[in-house]
Amino acid sequence: MKAYVFSLSPVEERFFLEWEDQHADDEIKYTTSPLTDDTVDLTKGFDAVSVQQMEQIKDEKIYKALADNGIKHLAIRQVGVDIVDLKLAKKYGIVVSNVPAYSPRAIAENGLTGAMYLLRKWGYYHRKMRRGDFTRPVELMSDEIFNQTVGIVGLGRIGSAAAELYHALGARVIGYDPVYNASLEPFLDFVDLETLIKTADIIQLHIPLTKDNVGMFSANEFAEMKDDAIIVNESRGELIDTKALIVALKYHEIGGAALDVLEGESKIFGRKFEDVGSLPEDYTELINMPNVVMSPHSAYYTKMAVKNMFFQSMTDIQRTLDGQAAIFQVK
Ligand code: COI
Repeated sequence: MKAYVFSLSPVEERFFLEWEDQHADDEIKYTTSPLTDDTVDLTKGFDAVSVQQMEQIKDEKIYKALADNGIKHLAIRQVGVDIVDLKLAKKYGIVVSNVPAYSPRAIAENGLTGAMYLLRKWGYYHRKMRRGDFTRPVELMSDEIFNQTVGIVGLGRIGSAAAELYHALGARVIGYDPVYNASLEPFLDFVDLETLIKTADIIQLHIPLTKDNVGMFSANEFAEMKDDAIIVNESRGELIDTKALIVALKYHEIGGAALDVLEGESKIFGRKFEDVGSLPEDYTELINMPNVVMSPHSAYYTKMAVKNMFFQSMTDIQRTLDGQAAIFQVK
């Protein structure tokens, strides 16, 4: 096979070399850049591409160029398919695959970690202690996780893994998903979204981003949530209206936010800013709040997940090129 790998990160390099070693007949090349209008020409003469990026691949010109260059398979080394236009891929005869099972636990555990940090008020304590204040004020008294109701929005592989984790810790878990899944009954109660928003102490998002759920959590939802509720976003930044979130946090309409993703992150996460003053205001504001904890879209960033993402996506490319159905074809 002839495959071009985009956005190869330093930690993926050894997997690239391993694949190359084990598949002497393959021609694989890589770049550290994402697939864009500017880089699509690199794919000339290749059969498939592998991408992992937050930059959108929505421009028809890119799909046309891919098809003209001979690309038959676009493998996404991530779960979220919101970066691609599936209709355009189909129009140009390009098979799309993703890697939905690389490690649901990696994402679910990151959410749990953020939720626990906020539940036990570590951000407040840490900030006070840096100023030499080691007291335990009454407003920082917290609670145990087994006394909490946790609401999981989106019960695919990752949401289900999160539900099982919280259930194992003794929390009452409620979940919302348009699709009912009886196998989750031992871990949670299915509820409608409104009930979840009103009753959960911790709300964790594991729902794919679509054009219909942008800003799904906005001023109205924050107003409906409990005053000390924690929101955890491990999915896509656009699910939350960031400005409304900042207001809700500032005015204690909700208790805290754990964010692994944030609107506009493709220009921020993964980069180092020498001048923090040049960061967008929303980022600076959120990072400095004691009731916010953030990670730079690193929930996926575990040894097992990174390895699986690479090998599962290459395996699916190979299957398509061998005339078999891709295991994780997205339709
Ligand atoms: C995904 O797998 O969808 C992610 O969010 C991780 C990624 C963009 C590397």
